[in-house]
Amino acid sequence: MTGTNLGAPAERREGRQKVTGAARYAAEYTLPGRAHAWPVPAAVPRGRVTAVDTSAALALPGVLAVLTPGDAPRLAEPEDGTLAVLQDPDVPHRGWCVALAVAETLETARAAARAVRVTYDRKPHHADFTEADPDAYEPDEAGGQAGRVERGDPEAAYAAAGVRVDVTYRVPPLHNHPMEPHASTAHWDGDRLTVYTSSQGGTAVRSVLAQLFGLDEEGITVVAEHVGGGFGSKGTPRPDVVLAAMAARHTGRPVTLALPRRYLPDVVGHRAPTVQRLRLGADPDGRLTALLHEVTTHTSRVKEFVEYAAVPSRVMYATPALRSAHRVLPLDVPSPSWMRAPGEAPGMYALESAVDELAGVLGTDPVELRIRNEPDREPASGKPFSSRHLAECLREGARRFGWAERDPRPGARREGPFLLGTGVAAATYPVQVAPSTASAQALPDGTFTVRINAADIGTGARTVLAQVAADALGVPLDRVRTEVGRSDLPPAPLAGGSMGTASWGWAVHEACAELACRLAGHTGPLPVEGIEVRADTAGKADADSPYARHAFGAQFAEVAVDTVTGETRVRRLLGVFAAGHILNARTARSQFTGAMTMGLGMALTEHSTLDAVFGDFAEPDLAAYHVPAHADVPDIEADWLDEDDPHLNPMGSKGIGEIGIVGTAAAVGNAVHHATGIRFRELPLTPDRVL
Ligand code: MOS
Repeated sequence: MTGTNLGAPAERREGRQKVTGAARYAAEYTLPGRAHAWPVPAAVPRGRVTAVDTSAALALPGVLAVLTPGDAPRLAEPEDGTLAVLQDPDVPHRGWCVALAVAETLETARAAARAVRVTYDRKPHHADFTEADPDAYEPDEAGGQAGRVERGDPEAAYAAAGVRVDVTYRVPPLHNHPMEPHASTAHWDGDRLTVYTSSQGGTAVRSVLAQLFGLDEEGITVVAEHVGGGFGSKGTPRPDVVLAAMAARHTGRPVTLALPRRYLPDVVGHRAPTVQRLRLGADPDGRLTALLHEVTTHTSRVKEFVEYAAVPSRVMYATPALRSAHRVLPLDVPSPSWMRAPGEAPGMYALESAVDELAGVLGTDPVELRIRNEPDREPASGKPFSSRHLAECLREGARRFGWAERDPRPGARREGPFLLGTGVAAATYPVQVAPSTASAQALPDGTFTVRINAADIGTGARTVLAQVAADALGVPLDRVRTEVGRSDLPPAPLAGGSMGTASWGWAVHEACAELACRLAGHTGPLPVEGIEVRADTAGKADADSPYARHAFGAQFAEVAVDTVTGETRVRRLLGVFAAGHILNARTARSQFTGAMTMGLGMALTEHSTLDAVFGDFAEPDLAAYHVPAHADVPDIEADWLDEDDPHLNPMGSKGIGEIGIVGTAAAVGNAVHHATGIRFRELPLTPDRVL
């Protein structure tokens, strides 16, 4: 049975619970006496709260309290400034929480929040993002890596290049908008705190709450049993969990704070806008001689977060001269943060669009141009790749998509009022891993229980970890139970950076392999409590490697552009990925196509505007911020080439959560260019822009 479980399309274990409504989410823990909270967002872009008049709110029947910066429980200073809520009267950006109403019902809490009168001492603010702003600076770090990498003499090499492309691409602010908005239910029992929260990583939530409230971690239980998506916005604790714990302490009641969707953009992070200048120099054969990728983005004044969009240029193409650099402009705006494939998603949009432009100038097929520039080592680091099958993904994708029949001339295919086109782009995402613990228990009835504080954010983590366990134990899948999503289970890293399965699976594999050994040496019946083994991959699951480790993929799109309305519709999307061993064919396909759908939204409809006058977003909810609906989603196909890479982890897997969004928008944009002959360099490709 060893070797039969990994890769199998096992059904999601919690699927039935979810579709029948039995799965409980953070706001659905109806503890006895539970109250509800509703935030009061700052109405000014910068300033100080001078007074909070709570009298009208408190006069409403059923209102329990209104927390203000003056009387809310005091917290230790957080490392993450976005969590310092209700600690002082300063307003760093519009939408910052300045009071919190708590009441018997959700409706009363909302009415109370609206009845709170806040007066401000308003200060001048700056919320206007332009790349020429002299306040923009070069950050030391972007996404935990050097802000700037240079190889060779990029300016001189570009100036000397026979063929040149110098183009600037723009991506607007984007919002994560998980299906389940951020929510937490908190409950104190003396000095013991229990929170049910919607999070990608409960272990970190517990340690942050311990630090903020001055508690031992043992005194805190964090439950995140089911999570309705996060896309990075739940990768770190957010104000909802801190505010719910404060309100519960203040009122002595269990309190649920479910953030209204309209408030998410201001307090849970966003993808910061990027302006990306790409300069590509090549010789007449289409070999790159210079690649310069310069990104300008914004951050808040609460903390520095740099959308590291120039980072993928360090990985993709052979070039003797490389510049990958960032500038960041601090503004009085909500704090940006991770959104699915931070860095790679916007960065590969710009790079892969520019490569398509270069192919046009050279008159070379864009699939062929990419293959011609395959590096034999990672360009920025000089490390060998642990495995890299980008060329194979491009070739296989081209074959399946029917690329060979494509007429390369732009604007050549017409169907009534529609112009048709096809486009291609590459995808990449790094392999990341972090140490984890896990336990595995053999029970006398022949079943097994695996325990780990992993977060199943909708990906199928429970299911795939059971597959990893069954495989290491050499038993059928239905003999293995998995318990995840509670902080009294062995600690584990977050579901983020596409590293959850690799990190957790490694610890689960170790625990189960050790347990299998112990069982092999055991004679007679097991004791009633069974045999339990605990594993810790600290020192093994190392982010450092002598190899450059990345997943790769190729995205193909076909579009129809309506010449009457300007509307672009995607007719086909195909992604072919190379991401190590795929551990569950069903859930993996769902991850890939889900992320490709998000890339489709990025290409065509998702658009947020930072209003420079008001200092926050003009499209805060799903009525204004358009994510793809079913009718927008065409025939999407995702497939993969299985890779045998011994330099990863015991399962041989790379991450798959994020790579599906990478390159999708470029493939769509390149297809729109092929259809129309016009190059649009700003997302999204809405009818007003295209017409
Ligand atoms: Mo992902 S944006 O690292 O949760």
